[in-house]
Amino acid sequence: MLISFRLLQQNLSNQNSDTGTARLTAILETELALFCERVAGKVVAITGASSGIGEYLAYEYARRGACLALAARREERLQAVADKAQLLGSPDVIFIPTDVSKVEDCERFINKAVNHFGQLDHLVNNAGIIRIDMFEDCKQISDLVTLMNTNFWGSVHATRFAIPHLRKSKGRIVGISSIAGWCSLPRMSFYCASKAALTSFYETLRAEFGSDIGITIVTPGAVESEMSQGDFITKAKMDFVPAESTEMCAKAIVDSACRGDRFLVEPSWTRITFLLKVLCPELLEWHSHWAFVAKTSKKSN
Ligand SMILES: NC(=O)c1ccc[n+]([C@@H]2O[C@H](COP(=O)([O-])OP(=O)(O)OC[C@H]3O[C@@H](n4cnc5c(N)ncnc54)[C@H](OP(=O)(O)O)[C@@H]3O)[C@@H](O)[C@H]2O)c1
Repeated sequence: MLISFRLLQQNLSNQNSDTGTARLTAILETELALFCERVAGKVVAITGASSGIGEYLAYEYARRGACLALAARREERLQAVADKAQLLGSPDVIFIPTDVSKVEDCERFINKAVNHFGQLDHLVNNAGIIRIDMFEDCKQISDLVTLMNTNFWGSVHATRFAIPHLRKSKGRIVGISSIAGWCSLPRMSFYCASKAALTSFYETLRAEFGSDIGITIVTPGAVESEMSQGDFITKAKMDFVPAESTEMCAKAIVDSACRGDRFLVEPSWTRITFLLKVLCPELLEWHSHWAFVAKTSKKSN
């Protein structure tokens, strides 16, 4: 029903807008808003909230009046995000310095959030790191364990401690995976593997939970953040890929979670890579090799 509302709405706004159309669009927008979850007064826990997508997710939820529990390792950054989120409209914000790669930190984060607010409605598993190197150049495979512990296990542990509370509230998990989970990107083998594992983990949980806990799996393409600077540009040669603004991405994610979507591919044009993966994976692999390996090594010779 929501999909047909949205399609109808898109068709209407594509037409020349006379007053009748404008009125109908307004009615449909109101209908749409009625079907969307309102998060005012609800409790949202976000990992990786000290910068980038997590920071802007905090602001987006704050604008909608949600109470926030924020986690990351950099305490002073969390303090600044918490202050701004309160100014933007959140009734109450707490922050808990947390290293999601440590099980005990994940448990403490969820417990502190629930002890403080008495409930948990959304858990946003967003914390993540990237490592950029050709697999053959990775001297110590054990160095990559930190990446898996953060991107995959960090989300698994936070989810495990949050489940009883989310069951009570019939809440939602928002899992920030990546387009890298299906689109093979050279120099990011472990990052891609961690995101593919995450997507598969959430899909399996969805089958286990039924309608008890909602799950929105988000697969962003390139988004402006600390992660998409530095090595991402210089080593991964991703400079020609257009990055979406962090604010737009965060708004799309919260809209999607509130609509109760199962998946969000953001920005939407990156869906083409999913189609290519299904219909002609060889073409996608050839392009990845040509654009990120062959072309760049020719340039440096
Ligand atoms: N930017 C993109 O193009 C893009 C594309 C697809 C998916 N993503 C995903 O989006 C998510 C957010 O990344 P971003 O782009 O916003 O990058 P970012 O600005 O680097 O943010 C990463 C966040 O994760 C936190 N973090 C890292 N390790 C942590 C740990 N061990 N414990 C707790 N928090 C930790 C960081 O905070 P501290 O350093 O303070 O701990 C920071 O708040 C990641 O999962 C990433 O994989 C990003």
